Amino acid sequence: MAKSQARYVCQECGGVQPKWSGKCDACGAWNSLIEEVVEKAAPKGLGGAKGRKIDFVSLSGSSKKSPRRVTNIAEFDRVAGGGLVPGSVVLIGGDPGIGKSTLLLQVTAKLSENSRCAYVSGEEALDQVRMRAQRLGVAEAPVQLAAATSVRDIVTTMDGEDAPDVLVIDSIQTMYVDAIDSAPGTVSQVRASAQELIRVAKRRGIVLLLVGHVTKEGTIAGPRVLEHMVDTVLYFEGERGHQFRILRGVKNRFGPTDEIGVFEMTEIGLAEVTNPSALFLGDRQDNVSGACVFAGMEGTRPLLVEIQALVAPSPYGTPRRAVIGWDSGRLAMVTAVLEARCGVALAGSDVFLNVAGGLKVSEPAADLAVAAALLSSLTGTPVPSNSVVFGEIGLSAEIRAVSHAEARLKEAAKLGFERAIMPEPRRSSGDKKAPRNGSLALATIKHLHDLVAMFQDETNIGRKAGEA
Ligand SMILES: Nc1ncnc2c1ncn2[C@@H]1O[C@H](COP(=O)(O)OP(=O)(O)OP(=O)(O)O)[C@@H](O)[C@H]1O
Ligand SMILES: [Mg+2]
Ligand SMILES: [Zn+2]
Repeated sequence: MAKSQARYVCQECGGVQPKWSGKCDACGAWNSLIEEVVEKAAPKGLGGAKGRKIDFVSLSGSSKKSPRRVTNIAEFDRVAGGGLVPGSVVLIGGDPGIGKSTLLLQVTAKLSENSRCAYVSGEEALDQVRMRAQRLGVAEAPVQLAAATSVRDIVTTMDGEDAPDVLVIDSIQTMYVDAIDSAPGTVSQVRASAQELIRVAKRRGIVLLLVGHVTKEGTIAGPRVLEHMVDTVLYFEGERGHQFRILRGVKNRFGPTDEIGVFEMTEIGLAEVTNPSALFLGDRQDNVSGACVFAGMEGTRPLLVEIQALVAPSPYGTPRRAVIGWDSGRLAMVTAVLEARCGVALAGSDVFLNVAGGLKVSEPAADLAVAAALLSSLTGTPVPSNSVVFGEIGLSAEIRAVSHAEARLKEAAKLGFERAIMPEPRRSSGDKKAPRNGSLALATIKHLHDLVAMFQDETNIGRKAGEA
């Protein structure tokens, strides 16, 4: 074993410093340095010894294609890229109590119909897990359950005769490698434990599902390197006080990363939500100003959400800008364009923006919906409740076409909307024909002026500019 020496390790970024200080030199985090014993680095350079020559092979060589392991929980499989790839490692992060253990117990119960599944809990006693299994109605599933935290024991088991096909580690922060002195949960332990587990999983073709705790800042606790070490990183999110949960892919070596899975937390576990638009629009009120329905996309799936804005005169010298569920930089851009290009005065007002239901929207296509919600609040004119809005705003206030216009319109029509305020569809490359609008009337606009004009005259908002 390499010689060990005490050092101070940043629990945020994994940076190592010889002396303690209040602030990490590497990432600037405060109070993040903890004394840990780190393995002494190997001597610089390779020395004189020669390595073994490696053999190269062609890209086309025969590779064993093993089928993905499918849970038949559609919301989970889609986010995983169509099922779990044998030998792949998935890290699932989420806030305390959000439902990570629940999700993984349900997933393993499903997988156990066709694969050997094992669930190792380092956090809960066996009885607690059994009680949950009973509540979820999966107590009869042939899942092997164990309470363990020693990586050495787990690795031996994974390497043994009756190794599982799928292994859940709940959670990686409770695991420890006995060769390292630091406490479980520290950067050194998390990194070393993950390394050992990943190595056997790859060698034996085991699907390894790691639960990871999330820090206050919302990243998986432990060093960022954990995210680099695994094949797939999924976040399980949800707002307190809301029943629904969103599984979001942020990294996937075997599939797309822009997919989300929507679940509802019920007494008997997580239920799939197959029509999330209906859920997110559930509490919507008709004809209030400052709200607007955005026809968005999450991965391959259209999703309608309500965007709410409140523009109010600011009692302070520096007006407040508060955003929930959208990018604050993007809001600053939209307000600046409204102000500079369209003469809409917002500088003296507090602006609050909220994506209803706690969803996080990251598409630029929401720009136009945000602008509409802001203008609606500012003028007190409701956006007609039969309309959806989408489009990207450029810095010169031009409205830019966005992808998947047809899918957005189709979803809106399905949910009973009658109009869409949107950019002129792209006619050149790729989709030659204008999007088929189903039963929707299309109010296409080219410039943000056109949207502002709709709100200046209340009678305008219903029909304007190139309405079909
Ligand atoms: N009897 C119950 N009825 C309904 N919902 C329940 C019940 N018991 C637990 N829950 C839900 O399950 C959630 C806890 O789920 P779970 O333990 O899977 O979360 P977790 O992310 O694994 O938490 P931790 O971070 O503590 O490991 C609770 O927040 C609650 O929403
Ligand atoms: Mg748990
Ligand atoms: Zn740091």
